[in-house]
Amino acid sequence: MNIIVVKNAEEIAKVAYEKIVKAFEGKQEFTLGLATGGSPLGIYDLFRQHKPNVSHVMTVNLDEYVGLAEDDQTSYHTYMAEQLFNHLNFKENHLPDGNAKDLDEACKEYEELLKKHPVDLQLLGLGENGHIGFNEPGTPFNTPTHIVELTESTRNANKIYFENEEDVPTHAVTMGIGSILRAKEVILIASGIKKAEAVKEMLHGKEDIGCPATALQKHSNVTIVVDEEAYSLCE
Ligand code: F6R
Repeated sequence: MNIIVVKNAEEIAKVAYEKIVKAFEGKQEFTLGLATGGSPLGIYDLFRQHKPNVSHVMTVNLDEYVGLAEDDQTSYHTYMAEQLFNHLNFKENHLPDGNAKDLDEACKEYEELLKKHPVDLQLLGLGENGHIGFNEPGTPFNTPTHIVELTESTRNANKIYFENEEDVPTHAVTMGIGSILRAKEVILIASGIKKAEAVKEMLHGKEDIGCPATALQKHSNVTIVVDEEAYSLCE
């Protein structure tokens, strides 16, 4: 794994933004895997400021909560529209359908989409418990897109986005670890002391389903961009 340690979250955003734009610039077509949450906000801000040409770029998001309408203020559909899709002219934008009547079928359809349009570059955040996408500890490394029950740690970390704690959904649809590992290139970003344990485990722990991010150890093209705090337990 290629590891880049920078000063802070702002620097992470700059480095990651430049790598992402360089990857799709000049290509005929490109499939870009995206994440939500706090970590990518700086990157999306740079997209809005610089407005690179993305007319040939199709996006696929990692995950979506189960049971929220697309236009719910707290859905990832809304997050992506507000942060990115309303501001740039992407070719197509896709997120898993967490509100489908038949969720199993929706998972299968999403996995088919990912197979038809292999991800060229996948952007990932990192959960405090080592999750990638919403693949919680214990998820086998070959899983396709599937429904997950969110752990207490994840629901707790995400409660800041909801008015009441009990509004945090209990389930989500996520690309599986198997789906993520098929991406040709992966960029994982993590900042702050809260991520330090997970970063240490991801980089130096044994490859184990107890820490989903250790699955990336076997991928041949991964760049980890972290700040000094997130990297502090690795020195
Ligand atoms: C979001 C996602 C999650 C987050 C992770 C970190 O689409 O898949 O894995 O990347 O929970 O979240 P933040 O960035 O809010 O710390």
